[in-house]
Amino acid sequence: QMSEEELHERIRRAKSALGDRLVILGHFYQRDEVVQYADFVGDSFQLANAALTRPEAEAIVFCGVHFMAETADTLARDEQTVILPNLAAGCSMADMADEDSVEEAWEQLTEVYGTEPDAEGRLPVIPVTYMNSSAALKAFCGRHGGIVCTSSNAQTVLEWAFERGQRVLFFPDQHLGRNTAKAMGISVEQMPMWNPRKDLGGNSLEQLEEAKVLLWHGFCSVHKRFTTAQIEQARADHPGCKVIVHPECPMPVVDAADAAGSTDVIRKFVAASAPGDTIAIGTEINLVNRLAAEYPDRTIFCLDPVVCPCSTMYRIHPGYLAWVLDGLVEGEIRNQIVVSDEVAADAKVALERMLAAKP
Ligand code: 13P
Ligand code: SF4
Repeated sequence: QMSEEELHERIRRAKSALGDRLVILGHFYQRDEVVQYADFVGDSFQLANAALTRPEAEAIVFCGVHFMAETADTLARDEQTVILPNLAAGCSMADMADEDSVEEAWEQLTEVYGTEPDAEGRLPVIPVTYMNSSAALKAFCGRHGGIVCTSSNAQTVLEWAFERGQRVLFFPDQHLGRNTAKAMGISVEQMPMWNPRKDLGGNSLEQLEEAKVLLWHGFCSVHKRFTTAQIEQARADHPGCKVIVHPECPMPVVDAADAAGSTDVIRKFVAASAPGDTIAIGTEINLVNRLAAEYPDRTIFCLDPVVCPCSTMYRIHPGYLAWVLDGLVEGEIRNQIVVSDEVAADAKVALERMLAAKP
């Protein structure tokens, strides 16, 4: 059994031996013991870009979850190797939309709406996938005139989609879809849910006729835990406190908060606050604790009193990082994430549309 100290020594040694041949990316939700080794720390949009900024690195070690590593592999040069330190680091939300169910929904929607553009040249439906989805679904969007979004550019992306389509099929996260569409003035009645187990997604033809955004039934198990009661409690306990939440939270929670945004927006919100301020945050605990430690002159706490880590992000333990880095030093690639050329070609189309649509 190796001590923590030996483990960290191994990581430091491998990192310095590999030098510029290696780049380590870390999501804001990663534990501090891992984040300390990241060359870039960011939200999922920033990390997708970061993968592009180091084309000379032979290996991209992604301390995050599976869909992020797939995105990096899709965008990286062919010669670059993307590594996920623990292959069990998935995302339960991404798993809620599988390719077959989306294809089937698409067939049904095509039957209802047809395929002909309207007088302004807008297609009947544009598929929009949240970054938190498999590469196969990004490829689906690439093939069908669709696009990818993250929580930091969802509104820009929906605007892009409505310039080209009469309505949107949004997956997998119902909450990000609903919160973003609502902020654009679309009413909840115009956002029916699509249940893949039911005919027409469980909707009537009239509902589909009215629909502007068809919402997949997915959700994030971390963010769905936040409630308006927690916000009321925070405001009662800390009069004058500010509340910011991630848009993966349910709509009533986002409505009751002072602000909502991606992990980087949350970080910037805290950075822009003043000493003495109190800020309650509705997102994953590792980010909240890191911000609280970075700004000791402010009161910063998580809205949920029960610690709520993302259990899959947490699966990237320093031990796995040491193991994949040792492999690289020895010339052995461990835990590589490979998106097939065929899937990557189409997924890249949808990702590049997103990168081109200004955030
Ligand atoms: P962002 O970092 O884009 O805000 O995404 C949060 C998240 O849930 C990542 O899985
Ligand atoms: Fe997936 Fe939620 Fe974890 Fe993000 S926080 S990786 S959406 S389960």
